[in-house]
Amino acid sequence: MRSVSKEDSYVLRCFGCKETYPIDDYGKFYRCKACGNLLEVKRTGRISKVKKRTARLGVWKYLDLIPLWNERNIVSLSEGGTNLIECRNLAKLFGLKSLFVKFEGQNPTASFKDRGMTVGISKAVELGFKKVMCASTGNTSASLAAYSARANLHCVVLVPKGKIAMGKIAQAIAYGAEILQVDGNFDDSLRVASEICETNHEILLLNSLNPFRIEGQKTTSFEIVEQLSGRVPDYVVLPVGNGGNITSVWKGFSEIFENGLQNIVGRHRGSTPPKIIGVQAEGAAPIARAFKEGRFDSIDPVLNPHTEASAINIGSPVSWMKALAAIHDSHGSADYVSDDEIFKAQKLLASKEGLFVEPASATPIAYLTKIARMRGLSDEYDKMKNSTIVCIATGNGLKDPNALLKDLSPESLKTIPADAKSLESVLIRN
Ligand code: F0G
Repeated sequence: MRSVSKEDSYVLRCFGCKETYPIDDYGKFYRCKACGNLLEVKRTGRISKVKKRTARLGVWKYLDLIPLWNERNIVSLSEGGTNLIECRNLAKLFGLKSLFVKFEGQNPTASFKDRGMTVGISKAVELGFKKVMCASTGNTSASLAAYSARANLHCVVLVPKGKIAMGKIAQAIAYGAEILQVDGNFDDSLRVASEICETNHEILLLNSLNPFRIEGQKTTSFEIVEQLSGRVPDYVVLPVGNGGNITSVWKGFSEIFENGLQNIVGRHRGSTPPKIIGVQAEGAAPIARAFKEGRFDSIDPVLNPHTEASAINIGSPVSWMKALAAIHDSHGSADYVSDDEIFKAQKLLASKEGLFVEPASATPIAYLTKIARMRGLSDEYDKMKNSTIVCIATGNGLKDPNALLKDLSPESLKTIPADAKSLESVLIRN
């Protein structure tokens, strides 16, 4: 009997009608030819034994669960393996039993995008592409530019003009990407990029609708369970923009439960996967609004989205269907928070725990602040207070310092003459 190769164990499957396609046809089309829905990677069989490759936590520890055929195609900057940091000060403040932050800002280009990009670019190399493209609110472009540089691929990034943080554009410039500003918002940029890649099959689109990105990002969930010594958290709270992040985190937990992945994440404890809570910014919250209306089969796109958390300033999330399915299937929820709540949460996480994250990444903390404020008034808080909660902090605060400094510029900080007497007099006054 012929042994089943890795190639035989995966298909591309339509998220809507479940039609399947060969993995290596990706890039010739991006959506189901039958119904137009997004595609996902699906394993066709259960995993019986996964080789232990390395003790070091990181994306490629889980190579056996990733549809890449040849290890030689791996393009890596040592992504993943980020710390899961217990936040006792905030837990106390909010009255919660156990709160952790998975600090994705520790990735090579300082956001969670690197997990997906290492897989997306490795697969692009395996499929023989020489040119890649993305539309981005900033982090995807920085990450794609870095991995393309390493793989010697030509990288084109489309960014909404004037709407992305300086740190992120500086990264894309440094990594040598061809950067094009689009006179429009992120949704316009992705529409333009998709149109080009759908007709020009020499360029691979690497936005999170690309299912190989999701395969890399799902490793966040494997790591969380490993870092909690096999314990499955009760809740995972994360920011939602285009919907790739929530899709992948849920896919990771689903695979743990569907396949019994003891060989990968160790023995896991917990009879149910976590409830996933997606948090959006109030001015760009089509998924949270659909959820609040009890709708899982459609969203109303926001035509002119607006939030200072520029990473998630997205009105028409491409993966909305997968995002709502993640919320539905995990028995989770979705909510939105105001920009004011986001900036307060960003400062709270930094000043109470020493973790400086970018504004979008502070939305889970803003959500917990909101829930804790409703103590005694809302069921949600009562359900969460005795549980283990993991917040995903998706990006590093240094990427977007201007957002924080707009209220307090360095010039307005107190200045003293360069002598100890002056310092002493200030200290005594305070
Ligand atoms: N947090 C950060 C820091 C992000 O950059 C993004 C998305 C998200 C959260 C939301 O993730 O889109 O998968 O739901 N940034 C994309 C970009 C859109 O272009 O960098 P999502």
